[in-house]
Amino acid sequence: MSATDKKNRAIELQKKLNRYNYLYHVEDSPEIPDAEYDQLFRELQQLEAENPDLQTPDSPTLKVGAAPLDKFEKVEHRLPMLSLGNAFGERELSDFDKRIKDRLKATTTIDYVAEPKLDGLAVSLVYIDGIFVQGATRGDGNTGEDITPNLRTIRNLPLQLVAGAPAGRIEVRGEVFLDKQSFLKLNQEQEKNNAKVFVNPRNAAAGSLRLLDSSITATRPLRIYIYSTGLVETDAELPATHWDTLMWLEGMGLPVNRASARCKGVEACQTYYEKTLSGRESLDYEIDGVVFKVDDLELQRTLGFVARAPRWAVAYKFPAQEVTTQLLEVDFQVGRTGALTPVARLEPVFVGGAMVSNATLHNMDEIERKGIMIGDIVVVRRAGDVIPEVVSAVVSERKAESRPIELPKQCPVCESPVERLSGVAVAKCTGGFSCAAQRREALKHFVSRKAMNIDGLGEKIIDQLLERNLVNWPSDLYALTREQLLDLDLVKDKKADNILQALEQSKQTSLGRFLFALGVPEVGETTAEQLAEHFGSIDKLQDASLAYFIPEGISGIGDVTAQSVVDAVHSSNAVKTLTDDATAAELAEWLTTTVPALKPAAVDTLVARYPTLDALRKVDVNAIKSNPSPTVEGVGEIMATHIVNFFASASNRSEIERLISAGISWPNVATQPAAGTEQKLAGETIVITGKFTRLSRDEISAALQAMGARVTGSVSKNTTALVCGEAAGSKLKKATDLGVRIIDEAELDRILSEE
Ligand code: IVH
Repeated sequence: MSATDKKNRAIELQKKLNRYNYLYHVEDSPEIPDAEYDQLFRELQQLEAENPDLQTPDSPTLKVGAAPLDKFEKVEHRLPMLSLGNAFGERELSDFDKRIKDRLKATTTIDYVAEPKLDGLAVSLVYIDGIFVQGATRGDGNTGEDITPNLRTIRNLPLQLVAGAPAGRIEVRGEVFLDKQSFLKLNQEQEKNNAKVFVNPRNAAAGSLRLLDSSITATRPLRIYIYSTGLVETDAELPATHWDTLMWLEGMGLPVNRASARCKGVEACQTYYEKTLSGRESLDYEIDGVVFKVDDLELQRTLGFVARAPRWAVAYKFPAQEVTTQLLEVDFQVGRTGALTPVARLEPVFVGGAMVSNATLHNMDEIERKGIMIGDIVVVRRAGDVIPEVVSAVVSERKAESRPIELPKQCPVCESPVERLSGVAVAKCTGGFSCAAQRREALKHFVSRKAMNIDGLGEKIIDQLLERNLVNWPSDLYALTREQLLDLDLVKDKKADNILQALEQSKQTSLGRFLFALGVPEVGETTAEQLAEHFGSIDKLQDASLAYFIPEGISGIGDVTAQSVVDAVHSSNAVKTLTDDATAAELAEWLTTTVPALKPAAVDTLVARYPTLDALRKVDVNAIKSNPSPTVEGVGEIMATHIVNFFASASNRSEIERLISAGISWPNVATQPAAGTEQKLAGETIVITGKFTRLSRDEISAALQAMGARVTGSVSKNTTALVCGEAAGSKLKKATDLGVRIIDEAELDRILSEE
């Protein structure tokens, strides 16, 4: 055969086999006998083995896997992969429908599309000109891992779209899963081979997709259903409804779940839910609920997003499943902040799609309230991916040998005294960082994906680092050498290099991530982000007092009077009447005449707290009115106390210094613009809020500053513009109230791209 003949034959075989694959795995209607398929497949395999450049990215031979990878590359999701809000019960479903109608000011019913909520793993797939070129995991929603070779092995995933599919980039999203039967079979084999047994189909699917060797993935009968588009760039006209989008996707040869349905109005949704719930057992795959999505895509755009989830969709979850079993023992686990959590060791039971042998008992208060004893028959509940919990004891079946659960007096790990403050449910180990369990959890948290995102430092490695005393504090991680890593079990050259590289990469971070990674008690991802945005620098945050977070307010000053004070100190009258060095007494006199509504006592308190015009100009309405709200959204007194205590600790402060000297840095909002760039935004004071699709807030901030703008954390009288993405909250309201100019993402793009 000539080279051209070979090429043509390869193309012909690829086309044929891709079609047979589709007919077999998507349409469920094979056209040729298996033996014939196998023969053509082997012919193509041989042809490609002899002429490797004939193996195109859409060749069906890739369905059996490719050469193993060293690691997964990162993939940015240009359109973030979001999650879904939940609804439990009919009431919450109708609340969802009502929220939508209120927002849209709709008087008629809303049409929805209902889809089973598969319990698998979300992925994003990119087709360019009809060829599957890249697939990735969801990751943290913004960045996932490139698992293309593994995805290619999924039987019902087409490596090319049908001939008439539009040109350009078509990104789709869907769920990869393993059906119930394949899961049981896989576990039987794993057991036979003394390999890890998976707790549920979801973990088995996730584990199979994250194997570096795709030829092993190919042996796992994974399936996929596509449930939406991602970022699509094509000239073709796109459907106007979600339902038509599903049909469009299916028309291109993509597998779409045929159990999806259109529901006219919320009542039809409830009916669909009930039908699906009762038919759940007969499905060959696990589902944990139903997803409802507003059908009209224009309405979806109007509704937009809140935090990480669309307003136009909801996951209506099935009720948690409950079973009874025996409580064998209770152990206490020590968490990152020293909290002791009682963990029930159970006689293993199958509940909610998984084998459960441990469940949480939450805390001592809960145990006492529920009256649970060791040896009892207990009710265990598990819902979807939620941690299983012990709900109650079956007291009528209590055995004579049942005994009470006692809180240990000493930490089970470091033997420091355990403290349980009155009125607080949680008992704590007082060992702090001297407790190995707390160190271990703090390190695990520090490296985790939403914190410093350091790949490769799994539990086993962290344990070894702690055991060998190579690492105590997170900052010690950055001093690790290649030799030290190579000395650990399970670490070879490649792995050591990857860890060092991941450590190096993690140093470029954002202030929000860094704050989250520090593990301040009670401070989650969102609060960390809010603190970063509010303070803009770690120094300012470290110096903030409790009074700053929780302003005391001044009795007798209402909203209106407070606003008058703020207006007055910024007015030209203030500049004209008061000199820079005006004394407190002069200030008091001026305030009394300028804002007549101010009572004398309030004037006294005001000037006692803010004795100069300059000081008074820095306050906002909230800080001086009688019932102020917390300065940082969502940071109430308890959280503020944790934050202030955390940064007051000398050992925490020096750890922060060590981390920064190790090279951790983030874009500094106070940096001066580079010389030579045009200062188009000079004199502007801009606040950024909400979520953006293209750029991160840090990137926007850097770009605006490069154009001469000052970027600050909170909206005040001095703000000249608010750059506002999706899901903006109180800042947008405040800016609108103050009449501040609002710049949306489209306009921002224009501003940033103007030469
Ligand atoms: S839509 C913006 N549809 O549920 C909406 N998700 O809780 C994004 N899931 O990460 C998701 N079946 O892994 C959607 N029919 C379905 C789904 C589904 C399962 C998963 C998906 C997602 C998670 C959100």
